[in-house]
Amino acid sequence: MKLGLVGYPVGHSLSPWIHERLMEQQNVSGTYELFETSPESFDSYIETLKKEGLDGFNVTVPYKETIIPHLTDLDDSARVLGAVNTVKQTERGWIGYNTDGIGFVDSIKNRFPERLHNEAQILMLGSGGAARGIYHALIQSGVARVDVANRTPAKAEALLEMNDTMVKSKALDLQEAEEDLARYDVVIQTTSVGMSPNHNQAIISLKRLKPGAVVSDIVYRPMETAFLIDAKAQGASLHYGHEMLLQQAVYAFKIWTGTNPDAFKLLDEFESKLKGV
Ligand code: ATR
Repeated sequence: MKLGLVGYPVGHSLSPWIHERLMEQQNVSGTYELFETSPESFDSYIETLKKEGLDGFNVTVPYKETIIPHLTDLDDSARVLGAVNTVKQTERGWIGYNTDGIGFVDSIKNRFPERLHNEAQILMLGSGGAARGIYHALIQSGVARVDVANRTPAKAEALLEMNDTMVKSKALDLQEAEEDLARYDVVIQTTSVGMSPNHNQAIISLKRLKPGAVVSDIVYRPMETAFLIDAKAQGASLHYGHEMLLQQAVYAFKIWTGTNPDAFKLLDEFESKLKGV
């Protein structure tokens, strides 16, 4: 297998580490290389890459949208989101996928199988690109209602329009989210608030959290954000950003290789790796 990552910059990416471990786990021989190119030379770089005979690659910032004109087709989530993070070489050419949202939903469902049921009351914080992917995957997984809170509530409203059947969902501002927190079983933080070096920041206070709620943060640097520290103090069950990171990589690997790796088996080692970075 000839695999890799296209982005700018990609030097600090954890993807080579993850995919090399997945290759080991699944007895797949191959390489995972970094392909770094600046925006000015992106189009010609990608056309040259087509001749390299890659079996597949990941795409990261800032190219998740600009890769699309270079692809033959898109899967449903990549088409709806207008963003691609995984490309597979097929007989028809390069096909684009988006595994971010489904990676998130799989990782939270694997860890709390009984908690993300169809009637669960779910609150999502944020309305950016990551939020769109997660929202779409939650809808696909069949949950009945996902309320969305955002600093700019109009953007949360726009996100709810992705699914016109979710009539019961509502958009909130962050203050309303804090006040109404006790009604939610699952709270998902999808913004970059709290990411290193701003590790003291949390998007809202979790003082009014429902006892026993699941709280998730997609930020993985630091591994335990101020938001999750607050959640822990309220007695919540925690779901960490690095779990999503690992699961979306596993999903990409499945698409490329047809194997079915176990993300859990890698988790301890991945946590040690992250703590050492
Ligand atoms: P990404 O594509 O990585 O998700 P993005 O599209 O820039 O990033 O989205 C950022 C999200 O984080 C948005 O929901 C943004 O809120 P606004 O829509 O009001 O801009 C949210 N966000 C960023 N910084 C924030 C802050 N300091 N406080 C609250 N929300 C913030």
